[in-house]
Amino acid sequence: MKALVLSGGSGTRLRPFSYSMPKQLIPIANRPVLEHVLANISALGVTEVAVVVGGWGAEIEREIGDGSRLGVRITYIPQDEPLGLAHCVLLARPFLGEDDFVMYLGDNMLPDGVGDVARQFAAERPDAQLVVRKVADPRNFGVAELDPAGRVTRLVEKPQQPRSDLALIGVYFFTAAIHRSVAAIRPSARGELEITDAVQHLLAHGGDVRAEEYAGYWKDTGRTEDVLECNRRMLEALVPAVAGEVDADSTIEGRVVVEPGARIVRSHIEGPAIVGTDTLVEDSHIGSGTAIGRGCLLRSTRLAESIVMDGASITDVPGLHNSLIGRGASVGASAQHRLVVGDHTRIEVAA
Ligand code: DAU
Repeated sequence: MKALVLSGGSGTRLRPFSYSMPKQLIPIANRPVLEHVLANISALGVTEVAVVVGGWGAEIEREIGDGSRLGVRITYIPQDEPLGLAHCVLLARPFLGEDDFVMYLGDNMLPDGVGDVARQFAAERPDAQLVVRKVADPRNFGVAELDPAGRVTRLVEKPQQPRSDLALIGVYFFTAAIHRSVAAIRPSARGELEITDAVQHLLAHGGDVRAEEYAGYWKDTGRTEDVLECNRRMLEALVPAVAGEVDADSTIEGRVVVEPGARIVRSHIEGPAIVGTDTLVEDSHIGSGTAIGRGCLLRSTRLAESIVMDGASITDVPGLHNSLIGRGASVGASAQHRLVVGDHTRIEVAA
């Protein structure tokens, strides 16, 4: 089996971050989302992986490399425009050949893995095996309707009046039968070749399409709230390890990772939390649910439930919560509010 990871697209819901980085490289517990995805694929024993990339291809390639670190061999496939999930399958056809494959959306986190679904697919080899999950508002997803035996009867992409609450959650197993359907469909109203339409075409032509309801944790990391929630979930699974320096006036409580080269001075860190390589935390309180990247500076600050990306600095800020601080950003205090704010940034000031 091969894997096809989709890592193009625009990610406008994550603005302003999407102006400076692809959403698949947003760090969750100090590892890019895409790295979590590739680790899951590697855990299936799949080694041949194609990653579809758009305008951020060079940055993704620089960060992820050839995949050897994660036990996979990556072929990057450029997509000039985000023309849809099924368009990615079309582009990857020469790579995929006649092999079975798992298609994995590069912004979806399923930290409990998809091993059970993969085993079921390998044993029964339906034409398509989808992974679904009940959601409160199915209108933002591809929606599957099932018969009582668990066979898919109909699929609709982002329906206004959903007839089921089972959403497709970003992992699809296919045999080569999908290629004929991908070649047969036309772009949807939003101008994309939808994988949902391709699977619906497969169904209409007698294909065997099954769906497995996923019991593990799942998050589409398309919005900042979801990124923060997922970050906490991943931090809770950390193996505590203090490789950096913690001085005698500091305390560490709970599940905490202090990476090599990090220094904790006169501070308190409450897990689950991670402090990245070469970061200095001084006279500060780092609350639980916080991931601080590499080369950051935190001085006289209280921070919790947040992500601080590489090279950022925060000084003299007594109460930051639920925040996402970008690479190299600086946050500080002064007598009056003074902001230098980029496009589509969101700021909430305590009243
Ligand atoms: O999150 C699950 C949902 O993902 C499914 O329920 C939907 O059926 C499916 O269409 C998809 O919907 P989204 O609107 O959330 O897809 P998004 O545009 O976020 O793209 C998903 C991933 O695929 C993301 O990593 C970007 C990548 N992508 C997307 C497009 C449209 C590409 O690589 N190329 C593309 O052309």
